[in-house]
Amino acid sequence: MYSIRIRLIVLFIVMTTSILAAFGIYAQGLLSRELELRFEQLQKETVTRLTISLPRPLWDLSPASAQRILSAEILPEEVRGILVVDSDGERFASVQKNSNKQITNQWTVIQGIHVTLPLYRDTDASNSTSKSTRLGEVRVYFSREYIDAALSANIWRRTLEILVIDSILLLAFTFSLRMVFTPLAQLRDALFALSRHDSDEAEELAETQLSEFSEVIQGFNQTQRKLKRIMGRRRQAEEANKQAYTDLQAAQASLLQSEKMACLGSLVAGVAHEINTPVGIVLTSASVLSDATSQLKNAMSDGAIRKSSVMLYIETAEQTSQLIMSNAERAATLIQSFKQVAVDQTSELRREYKLKEYIDEVISSLHPALKQNDAQVTVNCPAEIVLEGYPGAMAQVITNLTMNALAHAFTPEKQGQIVISAEQNGELVNMSFKDNGKGISQEHISKIFDPFFTTKRGQGGTGLGLNIVFNIINKQFGGSITVQSPPSEGTRFILQFPSVSPQTTPDQP
Ligand SMILES: Nc1ncnc2c1ncn2[C@@H]1O[C@H](COP(=O)(O)OP(=O)(O)OP(=O)(O)O)[C@@H](O)[C@H]1O
Ligand SMILES: [Mg+2]
Repeated sequence: MYSIRIRLIVLFIVMTTSILAAFGIYAQGLLSRELELRFEQLQKETVTRLTISLPRPLWDLSPASAQRILSAEILPEEVRGILVVDSDGERFASVQKNSNKQITNQWTVIQGIHVTLPLYRDTDASNSTSKSTRLGEVRVYFSREYIDAALSANIWRRTLEILVIDSILLLAFTFSLRMVFTPLAQLRDALFALSRHDSDEAEELAETQLSEFSEVIQGFNQTQRKLKRIMGRRRQAEEANKQAYTDLQAAQASLLQSEKMACLGSLVAGVAHEINTPVGIVLTSASVLSDATSQLKNAMSDGAIRKSSVMLYIETAEQTSQLIMSNAERAATLIQSFKQVAVDQTSELRREYKLKEYIDEVISSLHPALKQNDAQVTVNCPAEIVLEGYPGAMAQVITNLTMNALAHAFTPEKQGQIVISAEQNGELVNMSFKDNGKGISQEHISKIFDPFFTTKRGQGGTGLGLNIVFNIINKQFGGSITVQSPPSEGTRFILQFPSVSPQTTPDQP
């Protein structure tokens, strides 16, 4: 990634250098043309003057005056030397720049361009067909060194100019870009800091004197303040959410507890009802036995005892003691099994239990409620199915599903029927709870397992029953529960779970 600052500087330097170089090349061309023209002009003028002025000294055989003419003509920079020879080819006069050596008539070679011209003198000026006499020759040596030096000096000057202008531009640019990039870098650092830290920890930017940046910084600070406010509100909302969640959990736990207590309540009612009958029979039998014993005792004390009375008493005593024994045993068995269900419901004990026996026990605990609603329960379950798991949770499932049928399914017009079926299928147990009630509407069926969904709000329904059942079957039993309720065919809950529940610590259902 290239920095914008370097790119800008390089761009401007290259542009300036190119423009200045183009102008320099153009100016160099102009200068070169001008110097060349001057050079040509000088050559022409010098040669013309010499061809006019030299014939006379040659004619007069005055090398001194020729020498004077040459001294004047050698003055321009471009003229390096001049040699005049007479008609015999002997050196008549010569002049040379920067050298003590005289040019000989051997046409000593001087570096540069030389022009050789013959020198004539008209012998008869009055005659139109005048004759010219050849007096000698003049050779002028011109040098281009001056032009080349001027041109190369111009190149150096231009190059120096470009270098100086580039340096000034570089400095000016670096300084002015710093004015732009320093606040930008601050802004960038502040943005990174904002993204890394919480907005509370990020510092606000100090305002600058530069109006454009001061607006940007003001905007940034305003955004940051707004972000702080939003974050603050979000944090408050999070806190409130956390609190609400904790409250909800507490409420759910207490509702679960009440649900358990409600189950236990129905169990207690069942116990009372079931035990009432055998205890009643025991009481009646005991009172019959007591009456018979009193009668026998009275007869004995009156001395009017007969064998038939004794036989009748023995028969009565046999029957009543039989009744007392069997009903007391029945009551003891009932108490024992209810005790087990109660213990199971209040603890999360894992143990082996027979499914059919357990369903029967739970259903008999629900007897008063069933009787009150005139509902019948049929259990189709092979006696040999043995489960290893949590019987207390199973009691909750059976109680909830049965009580739901009583609370929501049945109407007074029709006798309620509940059929609980179970079968073992390899490692799995399939159970079904079916009632012949009014069913669940399509609108509600997708929500019945949701916590707090109830159609009996305000009439004792909390909407937790089926959610508890769902959690027990899924989490504690490692199985699944589905519901079917085709119109006017009642409701069927289908449960599938392994006969051995997973060993994981069960969640609170
Ligand atoms: N057998 C059923 N027949 C018809 N509707 C049912 C049946 N079982 C459940 N429902 C419907 O599902 C809803 C949710 O049942 P759930 O057991 O979760 O709550 P609830 O019985 O209303 O209240 P709670 O069980 O907490 O006292 C019920 O309100 C009822 O509308
Ligand atoms: Mg319920």
